[in-house]
Amino acid sequence: MAATLSYLQDWRFSIDFEGIAWAVFDRKGETMNSLGRRPTEELGDIVKAIENAAIRGEVKGLVLMSAKESSFVAGADIHEFESFNTEDKVKEVVGQTLELFDRIDRLPVTVVAAIHGYCLGGGLELALACDYRIADREEGTRLGFPEVKLGMFPGLNGTVRSIAAAGPLDAMTAMLTGRMLRPTSARAMGLIDQIVPTRHALRWAARKAVLQKRRSKGAPWWKKMMLKEPVRGLLAKQMRGKTAAKVREDHYPAPFKLIELFERYGDDPDAMRKAETEIFAPLMAGETARNLRRVFQLSEMLKDEAPKHSFKPLRVHVIGAGTMGGDIAAWCVVCGMQASLQDLDETQLKKALGRAKGLFGKQLRGKLAVDAAIARLIPDPDGKHIKHADVVIEAIVEKLDIKQALFRDLETKIKPGAVLATNTSSLRLEDIAAALTDPGRLVGLHFFNPVPQLPLVEIVRGETTRVDEVRKAAAFVTAIKKLPLVVKSCPGFLVNRALAPYMMDAVRRLDEGTPRDKIDQAALAFGMPMGPLELMDMVGLDIANAVGEKLGGGSGTDNPLLRLVAEGKFGKKTGEGFYVWEKGKPKRETAEQYDPAELDRLGRELIKPMLDECERALADGIVANADHVDAGVIFGTGFAPFRGGPLHYRRNQENAAASTAAVA
Ligand code: NAI
Repeated sequence: MAATLSYLQDWRFSIDFEGIAWAVFDRKGETMNSLGRRPTEELGDIVKAIENAAIRGEVKGLVLMSAKESSFVAGADIHEFESFNTEDKVKEVVGQTLELFDRIDRLPVTVVAAIHGYCLGGGLELALACDYRIADREEGTRLGFPEVKLGMFPGLNGTVRSIAAAGPLDAMTAMLTGRMLRPTSARAMGLIDQIVPTRHALRWAARKAVLQKRRSKGAPWWKKMMLKEPVRGLLAKQMRGKTAAKVREDHYPAPFKLIELFERYGDDPDAMRKAETEIFAPLMAGETARNLRRVFQLSEMLKDEAPKHSFKPLRVHVIGAGTMGGDIAAWCVVCGMQASLQDLDETQLKKALGRAKGLFGKQLRGKLAVDAAIARLIPDPDGKHIKHADVVIEAIVEKLDIKQALFRDLETKIKPGAVLATNTSSLRLEDIAAALTDPGRLVGLHFFNPVPQLPLVEIVRGETTRVDEVRKAAAFVTAIKKLPLVVKSCPGFLVNRALAPYMMDAVRRLDEGTPRDKIDQAALAFGMPMGPLELMDMVGLDIANAVGEKLGGGSGTDNPLLRLVAEGKFGKKTGEGFYVWEKGKPKRETAEQYDPAELDRLGRELIKPMLDECERALADGIVANADHVDAGVIFGTGFAPFRGGPLHYRRNQENAAASTAAVA
């Protein structure tokens, strides 16, 4: 029979002497397995072969595995999603896959999923359609439902099947958070049935499971009780509350729709299956999901386009242990590098080390990993490690003469071939480089605050910067798992240039009497991660003011920003700015509720100066094209991802206005 399926391109299929069929997924031309059209069709052929062989009593079972290094099935093929642009098309494609999964579910022989690597989204839904699931405990094996991050929820009956396997609380939490689960957690929940120590043990365990006709036990009775009223209603209410504390329904409808599906149909699997498709299709074809897919693709674009170089940095030296330098050094350590951190001020060094420990605790697993990270972060007040560093990053005060003096000294100490970078946010790279004997060496590495959260780093190519230095800088940014965007040197580069007029406009409005909280709430209503005034407090009002002045957006000689800076109130780092900060959080004193329509209107007005500046930056050729502008502003500021980027949003608005005008 194996010979009859020899045409398969994405799967390898065979039946062994014990009557066990092995379907090994190895999608052609890809490093990761994803469920695209061809592999799904081929899986259909495999299932058909098993259906026939089972009738003749020729097979005892089927094992689904992967030949890829890092994925069982990493999900559906997102590149094919663009053709699913109407609800009907979504229903048609989903319907075909649902039918296939149901046939797997109904096969009269035991079907085992043997999981190594990523088993995500549609991949986990496929595994859930099998009778029994085994995963290995290797570091790269992860299970989860990331759909919600793409504006959807599991639409291949994963809602019903995960609830049946793990019970409503665990299954819904997994679907609502999109979190990646380690095999041990997935096993504890019931999403998988067995764990084996290594990838090599999977085949043997799967063989045994087939021969012993094992079937998943499903959720225990006490978990199933939670599907009944009134518990289900209470659970749904709790989930809605938790979700609403994180995101707004008008921005991100998918998790709320999932809760609605569970609340209405949770105790009736058949009704839930049907309703799942009905609710899923408009979400998948809708604008939010389209825009979130665009954001995903923009991040892939930045990774693919990163200038390549064989440079492999291991040691980083950061000068300036303030808001940025401390976090940059700590992040490099999280990514496995050794970082030495230099500052004139010992208290700054101590504070940075304290913050770094907190970050290691959050990012790394286990005391061993945290202790190793602490050992890799070296306080170096005298700069003894400069000569060993592969990358040297300056993040000291934003003053040209001080930076120039530092670089003059650095140039004599760094080793040949090391990257020499500045994190300046508003000074001209050429002006700093003028202090160097070899100005071609200096490159900008502009990180964003907070460093652990914002994925972008602008790589600033000054007029004199050598291309090779840009390539090495990009290799470094990729090595620390950030997204590199090469930008031309200009005041504010791309992201601060876009932000400055937005922030200065907020200061102007505050000065003219719009309440602080109303301004910040309006920005949240638009979908920004925080308001412009809170953002300035985070960045530091001294820095924000310097950026504002350099970019020509600073207003007049007297305004609330200038007054605060004159008083030494720089925001979060000094404990007071536009807000009073306590334990790293701004105190919001007003309980005033503003009219949502009014906030909506103000939010759109606030954002306008940013959109205008993005247009100008594009026209000036600061980055290669409009997608780069959108990618930079989304990943550097957190600009409302569900809107797809500033220029994409503006084009959508213009198109909508044009079609309204045409109708009128
Ligand atoms: P900060 O004021 O928090 O920290 C600066 C640190 O540099 C202080 O600890 C200070 O003691 C130290 N320092 C000053 N002169 C020094 C010298 N000669 N040698 C060694 N240490 C020295 O400043 P922040 O916010 O970290 O900014 C640093 C740089 O990063 C600036 O160029 C800024 O424009 C840029 N930047 C800031 C961002 C922000 O959001 N704050 C974002 C991106 C870039």
